[in-house]
Amino acid sequence: MAVGVGIDSGGGKQYEGRVTPFVIATCLVAATGGLIFGYDIGISGGVTSMDEFLMKFFPSVYAKEEFVHLFFSLILNLLSSLVASFFSAATTRKLGRKASMTVGGLVFLVGAILNGAAMNVWMLIIGRILLGVGIGYANQSVPVYLSEMAPAKIRGALNIGFQMAITIGIFAANLVNYGTAQMKENGWRVSLGLAAVPALIMTVGALFLPDTPNSLIERGMKEEAREMLQKIRGTTEVDAEYDDLVEASEVSKLVENPWKTIMEPRYRPQLVITALIPFFQQLTGINVIMFYAPVLFKTLGFGDDAALMSAVVSGLVNVFATVVSVFTVDKFGRRALFLEGGIQMFVCQIATGALIASVFGVSGDGAFSKEKGNLALALICIYVAAFAWSWGPLGWLVPSEIHPLETRSAGQSMNVSVNMFFTFVIGQLFLSMLCHLKFGLFFFFGGWVFVMTVFVYFFIPETKNVPIEEMNRVWKSHWFWGKYIPDDAPGLANAHHNNNA
Ligand code: BGC
Repeated sequence: MAVGVGIDSGGGKQYEGRVTPFVIATCLVAATGGLIFGYDIGISGGVTSMDEFLMKFFPSVYAKEEFVHLFFSLILNLLSSLVASFFSAATTRKLGRKASMTVGGLVFLVGAILNGAAMNVWMLIIGRILLGVGIGYANQSVPVYLSEMAPAKIRGALNIGFQMAITIGIFAANLVNYGTAQMKENGWRVSLGLAAVPALIMTVGALFLPDTPNSLIERGMKEEAREMLQKIRGTTEVDAEYDDLVEASEVSKLVENPWKTIMEPRYRPQLVITALIPFFQQLTGINVIMFYAPVLFKTLGFGDDAALMSAVVSGLVNVFATVVSVFTVDKFGRRALFLEGGIQMFVCQIATGALIASVFGVSGDGAFSKEKGNLALALICIYVAAFAWSWGPLGWLVPSEIHPLETRSAGQSMNVSVNMFFTFVIGQLFLSMLCHLKFGLFFFFGGWVFVMTVFVYFFIPETKNVPIEEMNRVWKSHWFWGKYIPDDAPGLANAHHNNNA
């Protein structure tokens, strides 16, 4: 039995058209929206451990770095998720994807300027809030934009541009922090202020972007939508795709409240998968590495500079391994990457846990030999690579491509909120969990990776090459989700016709 495997390229319907330079350029520009998220992930840890920064803004908690970190991520995460849920979904739906991207970039830009110029703690806090809001808007709209623009057969590759930008942002921020940590004064200002650079790239880019045909139709601009579709597909024969988009928008118009609609049984597969994917993505434990890499490597016996260099190595692995998914996601599919990545991460986590247990035992006393330190570094890099071509990009791709138009914006907000919330929870709990669980922490995350891999196997059907407005066929033919999809669901009626064509 082909458990969980839906219709893929074999039975999928392909519309007319080719991959135009225009659609590629458009998606590359839009993908830069991931830079601000990446820069933010990469910069915070470093800045909040800079002495000068702590003394200026938090004299009473100076040296209690953990508090500052908590304070920072709390505001970032809570706000971005809340704002993303309630405002960005509405903006993206009513005013278009481009509007949300522009708002996201601009708000983040103002946040970066306030932070870089901060004279008091309030400038810092307000700046920080704005960064969170900007990220909420960007992460909600960019993946949807990419999935709608892209032709189905390379949707995965174009969408993963977003994750590429995230990893480049993280890497750039780590390098910046390294440089500014050497500065005698104002290093933190430069680190925080330079966030304006990715914000500018994204905002200026967004100003030049066209909106997606789906969004144009959704907002009643049918003629513009047809022209845009012809332009991005490089052909005038766009009727089949255009008709599907119009049909989708008709269904979508009947929906007044997407949040209520998404709770209906016929949206159960999308709801469950969209809530679980970001939760699982964070339960891989990836951000333990992203936030604490230099500290982690220092603990593993690398000196100060060596610790940073090792963090740079894992940062580079993160960027380059993402490229692997760009070239394989539409060929081998999402499931293959999820399953392979899951197994690879699981093996690394168990091996790392065992290695640490063999050196430190339960008492926590011991020290890494050079060989064992290098082995640990290698295991961490292999783990990061696995994440970078599986749960990293797929955590943004899959939720953006499985929703019908009427719940797409709300669904993506849910993805962002759950993701931010668990990023925050793990960021905060990590240190105390490490104290209690010690090497067991790696088994803890390994256990979750096992669970999510089993979940993927049974419950996430293959979506490669399936046009985004035709996803119902994938659910309908799934062994478990099939029963939730009514026979007259959009996209099903003409599937038969097209499969025979
Ligand atoms: C995740 C982030 C993570 C990053 C690492 C993203 O997909 O959402 O939490 O830090 O990947 O590259």
